[in-house]
Amino acid sequence: MNLWVPDPAPRRDAEHERAVAGFLEGWGPRPTELSADLPVSFADQCEALIEARPAAMSSIMGLFPPDVVDRMKARGIRWFATATTVAEALQAEAAGADAIIAQGSEAGGHRGAFDADRANAQMCGLMALVPAVRDAVSVPVIATGGIADARGVVAALALGASAVQIGTAFLRGPEAAIVPAWADAIGRAQPEDTTTTTAFSGRLGRSLRTDYIAATEGADAIAPLPYPLQRSATGPMRALGATENDLARIQAWAGQSARLARNAPAGEIVRSIWAEARAALAQ
Ligand SMILES: Cc1cc2nc3c(=O)[nH]c(=O)nc-3n(C[C@H](O)[C@H](O)[C@H](O)COP(=O)(O)O)c2cc1C
Repeated sequence: MNLWVPDPAPRRDAEHERAVAGFLEGWGPRPTELSADLPVSFADQCEALIEARPAAMSSIMGLFPPDVVDRMKARGIRWFATATTVAEALQAEAAGADAIIAQGSEAGGHRGAFDADRANAQMCGLMALVPAVRDAVSVPVIATGGIADARGVVAALALGASAVQIGTAFLRGPEAAIVPAWADAIGRAQPEDTTTTTAFSGRLGRSLRTDYIAATEGADAIAPLPYPLQRSATGPMRALGATENDLARIQAWAGQSARLARNAPAGEIVRSIWAEARAALAQ
């Protein structure tokens, strides 16, 4: 079970919000009331997870507070902490993490950087990140980002990882049930067809390079709002995109190995990747 550690509350700027709403009106219904509030507070989310007592709780975009870590440990729950840099991995280990999820820049979806302002400048590919984190910490390392077949698993283990975490490779399967335009585009995407952007949520993430992202990079584009206001602002556009199966209007997260994603049930994908990885390791 996984939680996002919230960022500090964003500074509100009514003029900027109006400009972004005006820009987004060209892509969907004009956003009205923007909200920075979580539907359930972070404290209540932590409470619910500790109560549920999963084998492990993972964090992204920061660290669990010390009281949460203490209560997790008392209940025997392991903490898997996402880190995008060696410095973050060291902070997580010092705070009590039982394993580090080293997230390379190839990864689909949001970057797990602790400081949103440094996410772009500190992006690091998995080939360099895994050995560096492995050498810096004494807890196990879980590699994630761009791993979508047995070759990636074998490479990650060779680099010093104890396990891997996979995201995009499951997106075309029935469990993910994403809109067909997104699933089809994932199946065709080369690494360079993805890009990182703050235009969906205000926080950096890797997505397919869609027409909307291209427009947000244009000369007349309006800079995105801080997270999570931009997410609130793009909500109506994304909802329309999902209804209309329109790739240009959805948040089309994808990692750089998207092309390797197969349309198969998640269990089948895991079993085949692991069987092929074991066969390769035995050679
Ligand atoms: C659609 C999507 C949603 C994601 N949501 C989360 C999330 O809620 N929490 C999290 O820790 N990581 C999330 N991730 C990131 C993954 O945990 C992982 O770092 C990433 O998928 C690895 O790269 P890959 O997509 O190339 O396999 C998400 C990734 C994708 C593609």
